[in-house]
Amino acid sequence: MLKMSNVAKIYVTDTVKTQALRSFDLEIEAGEFVSVVGPSGSGKTTFLNIAGLLEDYSEGNYYLNNQDVTKLTDTQKSRLRNEQIGFIFQSFNLIPELNLFDNVEMPLRYRSFSAKERQRRVIDALTKVGLANRKSHYPQQLSGGQQQRVAIARALAGSPSFLLADEPTGNLDSNMADGIMSLLKDINASGTCILMVTHDLEQAHLADRIIEIKDGVLTEGIPSQNVVA
Ligand SMILES: Nc1ncnc2c1ncn2[C@@H]1O[C@H](COP(=O)(O)OP(=O)(O)OP(=O)(O)O)[C@@H](O)[C@H]1O
Ligand SMILES: [Mg+2]
Repeated sequence: MLKMSNVAKIYVTDTVKTQALRSFDLEIEAGEFVSVVGPSGSGKTTFLNIAGLLEDYSEGNYYLNNQDVTKLTDTQKSRLRNEQIGFIFQSFNLIPELNLFDNVEMPLRYRSFSAKERQRRVIDALTKVGLANRKSHYPQQLSGGQQQRVAIARALAGSPSFLLADEPTGNLDSNMADGIMSLLKDINASGTCILMVTHDLEQAHLADRIIEIKDGVLTEGIPSQNVVA
């Protein structure tokens, strides 16, 4: 699914050079659920954005689904992102002017699906997250947990093989967070590979595997029971 070797990322601005990631070696198999932990500023989001082809890396090799990412054009990357990868962010990122149906449908409009197929996928995804009956509502009419469910439906509607979540429960209270985590477990159980950044070690333990990033350095494959809060 994902294979990184010696991947590094350096941000250069006028005044400072930040080495956000150093020589990452990592393999993630299809269907795995991997959580990413580490202190603030350690490089977790940078790693997730590179994994999701939202950002370029400075050094090393990255293969996604056996494709060398360095060799892809921007158009090929956008397409791969749209068809294979779903994103969930801490801040939901729904469009306030669009109702739930239209929010979930939005990324499907860049695909070659018919209107009927789009509708089937939207309703199916909203049903999975328990919000089909709210499809005409607007994001601001929902609780935070419900908004995150819509964002998950939007990510799922395109049937991605890879779901990337950056602190998906960071803005939610613990009840809502538990609901989102059990939804993510169900999604993973049905075959979708998940890479999730979290600050919450209890949540991190729900994954098959935990990786830790500190100062841009990855510690691979710590068995989850060995990580101490
Ligand atoms: N666009 C950018 N330009 C310059 N430096 C950046 C940029 N994005 C991130 N950085 C730096 O790279 C390092 C890693 O940042 P990153 O956002 O990946 O951390 P993080 O682990 O996700 O932190 P948090 O837990 O607070 O979200 C930080 O030192 C950050 O300041
Ligand atoms: Mg971050």
